[in-house]
Amino acid sequence: MKSTFPLFPDSASTLSGHVDALFIVWSLVSLFFTVLIAGLIVVLMSRYRRRHPEEVGADERAALWLEILWSAVPLAIMLAMFAWGTKVFFELYRPPADAVEYTAIGKQWMWKVQHPEGQSEINALHIPVGQSVKIKLASEDVIHSFYIPAFRVKQDAVPGRYTSLWFNATKPGVYHLFCAEYCGTEHSRMIGSVIVMEPRDYESWMAGGVGGKSMVASGSDLFTSLACATCHRPSPGVTQRGPNLEGVFGSQVKLADGRAVVADDNYVRESILNPLAKVVAGYDPVMPTFQGQVSEEQLTQLIAYVRSLGPTGAAPAGGTGGTPAAGTPAASGVTNPSSAEKDATSPLNTAGQTQGAAQKPPQK
Ligand code: CUA
Repeated sequence: MKSTFPLFPDSASTLSGHVDALFIVWSLVSLFFTVLIAGLIVVLMSRYRRRHPEEVGADERAALWLEILWSAVPLAIMLAMFAWGTKVFFELYRPPADAVEYTAIGKQWMWKVQHPEGQSEINALHIPVGQSVKIKLASEDVIHSFYIPAFRVKQDAVPGRYTSLWFNATKPGVYHLFCAEYCGTEHSRMIGSVIVMEPRDYESWMAGGVGGKSMVASGSDLFTSLACATCHRPSPGVTQRGPNLEGVFGSQVKLADGRAVVADDNYVRESILNPLAKVVAGYDPVMPTFQGQVSEEQLTQLIAYVRSLGPTGAAPAGGTGGTPAAGTPAASGVTNPSSAEKDATSPLNTAGQTQGAAQKPPQK
């Protein structure tokens, strides 16, 4: 029992040491001042107690320098800790560009994990050691919280939107995965394991799995079966009802009401479930909602597919509004891309937002 409940959790990610250092220094600083202040209270209380009823206190203005000192020093300490904490916070919540994206969907009461290559698992996450991993989180019902103590990462999975966390595991092993948000009667059983493997072992684990289609391939299939392609992939000579999605992901999109938004995970998600919320400039609000027709998993697959269509690298806001069908690579004949072809050009990672040129859809 005691081996499963160590006093301090394993430290097994590149950032866990940073979090621990912050935590330990903060604790020591707090301890130091707690002891100092409590000690001073006792000493000063006895030393400066009133000795007879007529005694009058000294003029406290004489100790102005003391007031300034004990205000300024704590202020400096707090600001230093704030700066340090902010630095660690940004390290923890800004995934590096080469992070590989996995999806974890919380549901009463399990974690459903999907690998970019298509494997899925329940309450388990197999990852290679030394690889930056981004976990995109969603929830099917209530708020859950994805928590891996050994990596010092925790993030809520909130229904209706995407959140994420990232880590880079440094030691092979099996680590606890918890739900850290009370989410109903079986919350305490919503636990699992993160299995960190040597890259070689990871490869063979992947090969031995049931496999399945990659996220992008599944998304591409859905794009066809839900008939998204009818409006979102222009055929030459046909009036386009919806914007061409090539190059949209990660770019600025001009809306009919004059606003401009960045087409990220949450924007694409909203556009599928609540299409009228943000209508792209130049198009009529005719898209039906797909609320209830796609599961959380399917949504993440569709988004992976849209992301694989990549940013064009052209002028950010231009191509998507105003004159549909003009000035986009749409007419270039990418009307029925094979999933395999898409996969080859679509590393499923966050690099899509920064390395646009590398992800252009193939042009023929
Ligand atoms: Cu899910 Cu607690």
